[in-house]
Amino acid sequence: MAFGIFAGLNTQPMINVAIVGFGYWGPNLVRNFSAIKDVRVKKVVDLRSERLQAVQSNYPSVEVSNDVDSLWNDATIDAVIIATPVFTHYPLGKKALEAGKHVLLEKPMTDTVEHANELIELALKKNKVLMVDHTFLYTPAVRKMKQLIDSGDIGAVRYFDSTRINLGLIQQDVNVLWDLAPHDISILDYLVNEMPASVNARGVSHIHNGIENIAYLTVNYTSNFLAHFNCSWSSPVKIRMMLVGGDKKMIVFNDMEPTEKIRLYDTAHSVSSEEDKRRVLVDYRVGDVYIPKLDSKEALGGMASDFVSAILNGTTPIASWKSGLNTIKILEAAQQSIKQGGKEINIA
Ligand SMILES: NC(=O)c1ccc[n+]([C@@H]2O[C@H](COP(=O)([O-])OP(=O)(O)OC[C@H]3O[C@@H](n4cnc5c(N)ncnc54)[C@H](O)[C@@H]3O)[C@@H](O)[C@H]2O)c1
Repeated sequence: MAFGIFAGLNTQPMINVAIVGFGYWGPNLVRNFSAIKDVRVKKVVDLRSERLQAVQSNYPSVEVSNDVDSLWNDATIDAVIIATPVFTHYPLGKKALEAGKHVLLEKPMTDTVEHANELIELALKKNKVLMVDHTFLYTPAVRKMKQLIDSGDIGAVRYFDSTRINLGLIQQDVNVLWDLAPHDISILDYLVNEMPASVNARGVSHIHNGIENIAYLTVNYTSNFLAHFNCSWSSPVKIRMMLVGGDKKMIVFNDMEPTEKIRLYDTAHSVSSEEDKRRVLVDYRVGDVYIPKLDSKEALGGMASDFVSAILNGTTPIASWKSGLNTIKILEAAQQSIKQGGKEINIA
């Protein structure tokens, strides 16, 4: 960490970061970290020379390299941000932690629970920050949902139902659940204070490499709470919709809406069988719909600041390694379930 970089004018510690991977997502990370005053984006690494040229034209002061190993012995680099394909997160994260760097991994954290656990152990041993870019946890919409749930406004949470489908970019290394569901599973983990018991998942591949392009995942809990995810790269319509049902009110999060993303329905049903034990009496209540005002802050900027604060102030980030690990546990169990035709898989 560098102190007083501007000859005594600034006594704030500055951190130098390196960003590995300047493909589709990397440029967003470079832009957001460059905007933080306590941070200098010192270096960007990518295997492709055309991507490094793109860095040089947009950020002339940033060093570039096609050799990720150049980072490990560079004592001026405090933190490494890894935005490369999923199977590289573990080997690159491990090298960075072993070299004594703080690490931010793109989602999903790693390709297996075992790899995630190994990185967590290493980070704890080295006393370094290990965080995962679960960008959605920093969106004003998800923060508002958390507020509505934690305040007891919607009552006891009964179900969570998420749809994330469109004609998506088919990935070569991971299936549609590993690509799209980390967002929604991390939101579920953030909103609900209960650990899942098991999963059932079905998926189908219409691609010659056998990678599933459509998948349905159910997450089971020992209480009466239930969560469901529908992910697809093969839908003609783009839907980004999440329902969270409470016994008092229900939340609808429609991420396709430009501004009115959250709607709170003062709607519920209550069931009673008191009057006649053989009949179930249902009382439906349909009330007002409330649209809360949301901030317009960019989520990725909040995520980047959270990482920097964890390094400089020792705060616990929202998208901590725990959030990363809980998400991977569900994904790995879902993968096993898909391979076994939807069999229920317990989550350790
Ligand atoms: N948080 C989000 O909302 C979000 C959105 C999109 C992607 N992502 C994640 O970001 C990661 C990258 O996805 P992408 O869509 O940008 O992929 P991409 O293929 O577009 O870019 C990856 C880049 O990494 C480079 N690369 C690969 N191996 C490397 C290595 N060993 N050393 C240096 N460079 C290397 C490639 O040359 C490429 O330019 C994935 O984990 C993905 O899930 C997150």
